[in-house]
Amino acid sequence: MKSNKTVIITGSNSGIGFELAKKLISENYFVILACRNRKKGLDAEKRLGIRSKFIEIDLSNYESIDTFSRQIRHEKLNINYLVNNAGVMFHPNYFLKNGINVTFFINYIGYYYLSLKLIDLLEKNSNSKIINVSSISSYSVKSLDWNFFNPNKTHNNLKYKRELYSYTNLFRLMFSIELSNKLRQRGFKTKSIACHPGVVKSSLGRYVWISKLIYSLPILPPTIIGIKPIYESMTNQHLNGGEFIGFDTKNQWKGNPVIVDPNPICNDGELRNLLWEKTQELTGINL
Ligand SMILES: NC(=O)c1ccc[n+]([C@@H]2O[C@H](COP(=O)([O-])OP(=O)(O)OC[C@H]3O[C@@H](n4cnc5c(N)ncnc54)[C@H](OP(=O)(O)O)[C@@H]3O)[C@@H](O)[C@H]2O)c1
Repeated sequence: MKSNKTVIITGSNSGIGFELAKKLISENYFVILACRNRKKGLDAEKRLGIRSKFIEIDLSNYESIDTFSRQIRHEKLNINYLVNNAGVMFHPNYFLKNGINVTFFINYIGYYYLSLKLIDLLEKNSNSKIINVSSISSYSVKSLDWNFFNPNKTHNNLKYKRELYSYTNLFRLMFSIELSNKLRQRGFKTKSIACHPGVVKSSLGRYVWISKLIYSLPILPPTIIGIKPIYESMTNQHLNGGEFIGFDTKNQWKGNPVIVDPNPICNDGELRNLLWEKTQELTGINL
C-alpha cells in the first residue's frame, strides 16, 4: 500500500487509461474514471472496485466538461493528479455543434480546457501534477502548419486523418510545456508533465479497419507497457515540470521510461506562446 492519493484519469474505461487505473488502485490510489459512456464507465467501475468512481465527461463538449468540474467540486474531492489520456485516432472527420473539428477538440482542446477548469483544485495539494499523454506521432510534424489548429477542413482520407492526429499530439506536447512555464511564472506549485505510451495494444485503431487490426496484433507490446511513462511522470519526485517522458529505445515503441527530447518545434517558445494565445481565444479561458 503506497498511496492514498486521488487521480482523475480521462478515458479510463479502456486501453491505457484502464490499465493505469488498475495499477494505481493496486497501490491504494483512488481513481476517478472520467469517461463519456455511462455504461462503459459503470462497467469499468464495477471491474475496478470500491477505490474507483465513474463520473461522466464528454471531452468533445464544453458543457460536459463544465458539469464534470462542478461535480468534482460538489463532491469535495481532493485531487492530486489529473491524467489527460482520452483521445481518438483516425476518427471520422466532422465539425461538432460548437463548430470545432471533433479530433482536434477531443485530443487537444479537451486537455487544455479540463486542465484549466481543475487547476485551482489541484493547486490545493502539494506535489499535484497534470500529466498529458501524447504520442510519438508528434515527431512526424516537420514544420508547423497552423491550418491544423482548429482546422476548417473535413477531409476523410487517411493521410489527412494521420496528419491531424500527429498535430493534435504535437499540440498536446507544446501545451504541456507551455502550461509548465506559465504555472511556474505565476507561482503555482502544480507541475505539468507530458509523456507517451510508445505503441501498445488498445482500441485506439478502432475507426479504420487496418489500424484496428494493427492495434490488436499479438506482436504489439501489451497495454501495460504503455502505462510505464505515465506512472513515471506521476511518481518521479525529481521531475520539475515541462519534461517529456518516453522510452530509452531508438524507436521508443517500448522500453524503460526516461526523459526524451520532444519534436524540436516544441522548443520554440514563440510558437508555444502563439498556440496558447490561439487556444485561449478559441476557448475563452486562460490560466
Ligand atoms: N495505444 C497506443 O499505442 C498509443 C500510442 C500513442 C498515444 N496513445 C494515446 O493514448 C491515449 C489512450 O489511448 P488508448 O490507446 O488507450 O486507446 P483507447 O483504448 O481507444 O482509449 C481511448 C479512451 O478515450 C476515450 N474517449 C474518446 N473520446 C472521448 C470523449 N469525447 N470524451 C471522453 N472520453 C473519450 C475512450 O472512450 P470510449 O471507449 O467511450 O470511446 C477511451 O476510454 C490516447 O490519447 C492516445 O492518443 C496511444
